[in-house]
Amino acid sequence: SLGFKELGPSSHKSRGIAWKRLCSKPQFIVGGATRTDICQGALGDCWLLAAIASLTLNEEVLARVVPAGQGFGDNYAGIFHFQFWQFGEWVDVVIDDRLPVKDGELVFVHSAEGNEFWSALLEKAYAKLVFVCVVSCSTSEGFEDFTGGIAESYELSKAPSNMFQIIQKALEAGALLGCSIDITSAADSEAVTRQKLVKVHCAFDSSSEWNSITASERPNANAEDGEFWMSFSEFLSHYSRIEICTLTPDAITSDSIKYWAVSNHDGTWRKGSTAGGCRNNPYTFWMNPQYVIKLNDEDDDPDDNEVGCSFVVGLIQKNRRRLRKAGEDMHTIGFAIYEFHGQRDVHLDKNFFLTHAQKARSETFVNLREVCTRFKLPPGEYLVVPSTFEANQDGDFCLRVFSEKQTETLPCDDPVDAELPDESVSDDEVDSGFRGMFVKLAGADMEISATELTTILNKIIAKRTDIKTDGFSLETCRIMVNLMDDSGNGKLGLGEFATLWKKIQRYLVRDPPDGIYKKNDMDNSGTISTPEMRLALKEAGFTLNNTIFQLLVARYAETDMTLDFDNYVACLMRLEMMFRKLFNILANLVYLALKSS
Ligand SMILES: *[C@@H]1O[C@H](CO)[C@@H](O)[C@H](O)[C@H]1NC(C)=O
Repeated sequence: SLGFKELGPSSHKSRGIAWKRLCSKPQFIVGGATRTDICQGALGDCWLLAAIASLTLNEEVLARVVPAGQGFGDNYAGIFHFQFWQFGEWVDVVIDDRLPVKDGELVFVHSAEGNEFWSALLEKAYAKLVFVCVVSCSTSEGFEDFTGGIAESYELSKAPSNMFQIIQKALEAGALLGCSIDITSAADSEAVTRQKLVKVHCAFDSSSEWNSITASERPNANAEDGEFWMSFSEFLSHYSRIEICTLTPDAITSDSIKYWAVSNHDGTWRKGSTAGGCRNNPYTFWMNPQYVIKLNDEDDDPDDNEVGCSFVVGLIQKNRRRLRKAGEDMHTIGFAIYEFHGQRDVHLDKNFFLTHAQKARSETFVNLREVCTRFKLPPGEYLVVPSTFEANQDGDFCLRVFSEKQTETLPCDDPVDAELPDESVSDDEVDSGFRGMFVKLAGADMEISATELTTILNKIIAKRTDIKTDGFSLETCRIMVNLMDDSGNGKLGLGEFATLWKKIQRYLVRDPPDGIYKKNDMDNSGTISTPEMRLALKEAGFTLNNTIFQLLVARYAETDMTLDFDNYVACLMRLEMMFRKLFNILANLVYLALKSS
């Protein structure tokens, strides 16, 4: 249960580790939870250490993660609980009190005192939440999971000119901050980091700048405790990166903290339907989920004299860490932003993206859990399109928009609807040629059963070399018969069959010009691909949202994300039957409601 790879069952690192109960007089928290309660264990969890240390500086945030009233006193039952934020909600994690120990020492985070256990238990709970022992994540992930906030990262070598103000504002707003030094070689990263920190530490514990700092601000001025002060310019040159995690309204309740408005949207990328890939895939990019951000008000007091609406877009991929064991890793993700005017309730198609340039985008496409970028744009409406870099990668995500002013963020999708033409042909309308054919096909009973329909359709379709199919199934033909069978005898009469025939022609095979199937088979492969399918469905009168389209693709597409002719017909017939049934149900409900009022 420790992990995999270097922490796997037979690995060097996990050898000799045992899960043990706590020492003889354990305490949960001694004298408050402070940053000195957190010492690094033998394993590479320093990133978590930094996040927990930062957490102890904000009591209210800490109290949310480490709920009060826990300890080893009376009624102690061997369990603890902690709370973490996971993709939009707070999750309570319950653990028992055993911890991994090697040679009598805790192997992960622990306190200096040796009998204080809140930090070690917190790490255990966090590891349980994210399904792996917590090596090699990032401090900003910890920040976000402890607060529900959004972490922005700044490269200090390219820091904006108002970096000091940004840090100051962040501290005022109760944000969590962490900084780090990039390493140039993966080997022995700790040593490099330590060396630099020690160098910095020595230089400053005895420096003249101490004298300009009031005593109340430097209670531990002379202690060799790893705490130090340095000038801002030197901070910028010694450190590589700073991560600032801004809190959200649900992290804390204090009035003194100015928090941003936030909106959360969950979404999915599914192979063949909504996993369109980045803009390098013009053919499928439009199939990605789309969101509209409405920016109404400009910022109150722009700190760089540039007016506009500030907002931060964060795109988190969900649940990827638990797949690491199976060899999966994070997808490379990012998003594009377009200026947008017009109807809200429509999923924009290929033409929009071919004719509009993007207005802004995530700083990079990157294989981290989250990409997050800050923008300042004039008031207006914008379309955000989150995607994976490559098309056809399954994934779940959470899109968050943080803004100084209230903004509105809405999914941009088609409403579910169907416009179905009345195609019914009565017995009298059928011409003599068709009648003659019907008599031949139907036999003595003058009705066509589902089995007969299967034979007939497959005979006709076999002659079409331009269309790929492995034949209609009996099940599909049953659906067609049900759909057409007004008389309710489970078979098709002359008019019913003529109606079905007309429908099939419209959907598919009318010669020339071709029906919807042929028209949307843009590469003349004889099959249609799933993006072609979404267009074909629209043309056939069905507007469907992402969720339903995903389900259709999962059910009807082959593994190469194409539909052959019979699958396509089956899908359309099924949809039509469901919509017609639904309309009947609705009509009956309306009728009942009117009758009773
Ligand atoms: C798509 O439509 C269905 C049916 O109206 C609905 O249940 C579902 O929530 C919709 N999906 C989205 C993402 O809005």
